[in-house]
Amino acid sequence: MAQALSSEQLVDIAGTYGTPVYVYHAEKIEEQYRKLTTAFSNTNTVFFYACKALTNINILKHIKELGANVDCSSINEVKLALHAGFPPNRILYTSNGIGFSEIEEAKNLGVYINIDSLSNLEKFGQKFGHSYPVGIRLRPNIMAGGNLKISTGHEKSKFGIPVDQIETILELVNKYNLRICDLHIHTGSEIKDVEVFVKGIEVLFNIIPHFKDLEFIDLGGGFKVPYKDGDVETDIPLLAQKVGEAFANHPNPGGKPLQVWFEPGKFMVSECGYFITQVNVMKETSAATFVSVDSGFNHLIRPMFYDAYHRIENISNPNGPKKTYSVVGNICETDTFAWHRELNEVREGDYLVFYNAGAYGFEMSSNFNSRYKPVEILVKDGTAHQIRKRDVFEDLLRNQIEVL
Ligand code: LLP
Repeated sequence: MAQALSSEQLVDIAGTYGTPVYVYHAEKIEEQYRKLTTAFSNTNTVFFYACKALTNINILKHIKELGANVDCSSINEVKLALHAGFPPNRILYTSNGIGFSEIEEAKNLGVYINIDSLSNLEKFGQKFGHSYPVGIRLRPNIMAGGNLKISTGHEKSKFGIPVDQIETILELVNKYNLRICDLHIHTGSEIKDVEVFVKGIEVLFNIIPHFKDLEFIDLGGGFKVPYKDGDVETDIPLLAQKVGEAFANHPNPGGKPLQVWFEPGKFMVSECGYFITQVNVMKETSAATFVSVDSGFNHLIRPMFYDAYHRIENISNPNGPKKTYSVVGNICETDTFAWHRELNEVREGDYLVFYNAGAYGFEMSSNFNSRYKPVEILVKDGTAHQIRKRDVFEDLLRNQIEVL
């Protein structure tokens, strides 16, 4: 098991590179990936890292070296993956609501594509017919995921083509002789119950007989990782067993064995990440003792956007007495990271670390309030490498055109 980065290492990095700073631990990513490949070792399964979770080019290169493929959610992510050295046949573009020009661009780059609307499927058929294999992103009408904001497969979700529109899908497939190589579903994020994936397989197997060119079944991402003490991660060995059983019950009518794809994001990179901030101000009020750090939802939006829980520790005072604090940011919004949290006594200048910050942390950060984005550091083989510079003032003006 990869040893977690120690408080001393994190304090050291914060002192050297300043705060706010995201720190990623390469060996933890490897550990997570190996859990997946070990559990599925006797199966025909491929993992595409959902890189929307964290796209720093060094992370992409590291994951490429580990042997995973990559799943992208924009044409620029596809280009980043190519830049990181992934060959096109290890890149998947799972689209949602995009214009057809991006699909054409992805096709020209030679990557796998999952199309998520009837309109783009029709355009694809008109232009490319049978000449290029393509996948279909379906909405399976399954409710799953940690909260509604990260649930994507239910009946009110915008994602995918509703599976009940299968007749229309088949009309298009027949009309244009489409070569459908893949059926995709992604039901949500933070799915603990492996039965959700089995349900998804059941939905797909109802329609699989209609697709004679099928090679892949893509069950999306969404494996849960522990955020709070006492949380457990998705039981990956059990998942492998259940998926195996489900496929054994449904041999592919086309005869060819189907390869199973997954697209884990959080599972790969959530726990590798640490976000370190420094305490600017302590404020006693009748409501709470506020700890105001040099960050806010401009840098880590998950607590405010999803009510997500991130474990926090005062790494500057690990032996201090426990007290209760509310940890807030310094931007002009109610950017509360945590209400009434027990921390070792906090003083101005202390470093607070937020755990599980690798996935959707830096990636969802912004320059709101004209503040700089955090620095990023990669710790690999015990050495800290700076992998993103801090913004400078010119960055705030870089793309503005001063006409007045
Ligand atoms: N595949 C597709 C098509 C997706 O839309 C997603 C995530 C994934 C894979 C990866 O899901 P994961 O394994 O990371 O759960 N920003 C939110 C999570 C949104 C996930 C969006 N789609 C958060 O911070 O909780």
